[in-house]
Order: sequence, then structure tokens, then C-alpha cells
Amino acid sequence: MVHVAILGFGTVGGGVAEVLTNNAAVLSKKVGEEINLKYILDTRDFPGSPFESKLTHNFEDILNDPEVKVVAECIGGATIALEFVKKLLAAGKHVATSNKEMVATHGHELLAIAKAHNVNFFFEASVGGGIPLLRPLACDLAGNETTEVTGILNGTTNYILTEMLEKDAAFETALKEAQAMGYAERNPAADVEGLDACRKVCILSALAFGFHVYPDQVATEGITSITAEDVEAATAAHMKVKLLGRTMRTDDGKVCAFVSPHFVPSASQLYHVDGVFNGIVIRGNAIGEAMLYGPGAGKLPTASAVVGDMVDAVWHLSQRRMLDWDDADPAKMVDFADLPLPYALRTTASKAEVEAKLGQATALPAGYYLLSAPITRRAIEASGLPLLALRPVFQ
Ligand code: HSE
Repeated sequence: MVHVAILGFGTVGGGVAEVLTNNAAVLSKKVGEEINLKYILDTRDFPGSPFESKLTHNFEDILNDPEVKVVAECIGGATIALEFVKKLLAAGKHVATSNKEMVATHGHELLAIAKAHNVNFFFEASVGGGIPLLRPLACDLAGNETTEVTGILNGTTNYILTEMLEKDAAFETALKEAQAMGYAERNPAADVEGLDACRKVCILSALAFGFHVYPDQVATEGITSITAEDVEAATAAHMKVKLLGRTMRTDDGKVCAFVSPHFVPSASQLYHVDGVFNGIVIRGNAIGEAMLYGPGAGKLPTASAVVGDMVDAVWHLSQRRMLDWDDADPAKMVDFADLPLPYALRTTASKAEVEAKLGQATALPAGYYLLSAPITRRAIEASGLPLLALRPVFQ
């Protein structure tokens, strides 16, 4: 029997407890022995919960119990969770987490601690919810030189955009629904302002390119600036407005990472990713292009990924799986404003004025123009054209 524990009995922690319990038989078979959920740590009481007997308010119960080999961290944030995870790794316990904030801000440091103590620190659930994404990127695609990872990385904003576009729902109503379904962050500003996607881009960048990219190195814009004019112009061009998180290798071997509302053409698979679903396109020099798709948020999908990590940890109790990256190197980063991309821009200027400054363009409704050739944001801003909106076009 292997004993495990969960930190945090919120949406994800509750889901992990459920999956471990409801799928106990199938898990035992896969692992070769029973996985016993010995503790759940939370500051609250849960009278009447089927897991009441597992609850403890004392982290030391878990830290000091030599029987507990694997711990799922589902508290979130990078304060108390970080302190607990550091202590657990240093005590020789394997940790699986869904905590993207902690991995995006302290992943390099935590992997170093895990390495020093020969334990695993896994975080599959931190990006893409239940989608198997990070392990395929790190392992199955290891033979590639990765050139780009681009995704719809936030289920809440994709849900809101889909509800607004397809059902004419109001922003606030759609957000409330996303919160009720357990998709949104505790403070949903992290979703709608792009910070959650930014953290996920940091993690994808590190796995794709081998060095830490911190949130402040990722140019980030959320969905609050999206207007009816964006939707009208995108629709006329057979595109959809989607919040994309992107990290890409430039021609000179540097990396550019950003989160921004994009126009996504109907020819792209990402165009068809709606609702709470996430879709992530990975481009590499051997695979060409692959897309991973699935539920990007929610209790059980996220728990599915956490439990998968716990199983992998049980399979590797005495062996650390190779997982590592260097610390950040600002010299290896390119400013988003200097990355040439296809753009759609909205302006009060005429087509002739746009073309005189920025080259050939196609007029769309609502004062939008689709530029024919890739160009940098800096060059567009320096053109002197009165800009109302600027959206990269995904290609
Ligand atoms: N708030 C996040 C989302 C949860 O909506 O994608 C999953 O990371």
C-alpha cells in the first residue's frame, strides 16, 4: 500500500479525493498496489463529508509521517503552498501540483530542490487542465527542436468568448457561469486579464525552450479590450477572436512569449476550440505540427491530471524522472513589440493611408484592415496611424 495526501480541499483537491476513491480499483491495478488517501489538509471543517475522517488542520501530520510518499498540492497561490511544497520535497516526498502560479514563479527553484532530494515534482495539471500536454511536450516530443507552442490556455475566457459570440450572452453572466462551474480563478481578474494564461505560457516556455520565463517577461493582454467591432471584423474575415498564449523561437534562436487576443482563421484547428476547452498547437522540426485538445478547467478533468502525476510518482518512488530547466536569461528573450507577425488593425485612417504607411491591406468592417505581410507592432505604432485596436492574426 502507498500512502498519499492532499493539501487543500477546494475544487481541485476535492476532485483528486473523488478520483482516488471512485477509481481506486483501476488505480490499484495500474500501480500494482493500493493507493491510500491518508490525509487531506485544510483549514476548514467539512462535517458530513465522506472524507471527514481524513481531514487534518496540521501540515506537520503529513510532513512528519514517513508513510506518506506522494502529496498532491491543491491549495494554489505561491505563499503557503510554496512553503509547504519546499518542505515536502526537502523531506523526500514526491509532489504533484495543479498550481500554475507557483510553477510559473518558482518552478526552477522547486525542480532544483526536487533534484537535490531525488524526488519528483510534477505539474501536469498546471497547464491545459485535464489535457495530457506537459508530459507529451517534455517526453514524447523530446526528439524535436520545438519552434512554437500556441494555445487557448484559459478555459474561463474561452467559455466567456464562446457564450458571448454564439449565444449573445453578457460578459458578466458568462463569467458568473464559469465561476459556478468551478472554471474561474478565485479572483477571476486573473482569467480575464490574461494572467492565468501568462503563467501557463511561462511553464510551456520552460519546457519547450529549456529556461525559465517569468510572468513579467510575457507581454500580457486579456479579453477586457475585446469589442463588438473585433467580432464583426473577425467574422467577416472568417475568423474568431480568441485569447492565445504563445511562446516561439525566433530566427536568431531567441524566444518571444506573449498573451494576446488574436484573430484566428477558420482554417486553424484553434478556431474550433470553444467553451471551456483548451487547444494547444505544438510545432517542432520533426513532428511538424500537433494539436492537443480537451477540457482546460474543471474539477474532475484537473483532478485527472493530478492523479496521473501521482501515479507516475508512485511508479518512480525511488527514481527521479528527468525534468529540469535553466533559470531565466533575459538576453535570450525578444520583446513582443519586435516580433514580426501578421496583424489586423482598427483605425480611423483610410485604406490609402494605411497602405501608404504599412503596405498592402484588405479592408474589413468597423474600420479594420488586414495587413498582407508580417510586421512588428513597434513599426505599426511608429507609423503615426490613429490606432483603435491591434490584433495579431494566428497563422
Ligand atoms: N481558471 C483556469 C481556467 C483554471 O479557466 O483555465 C484552469 O487552469
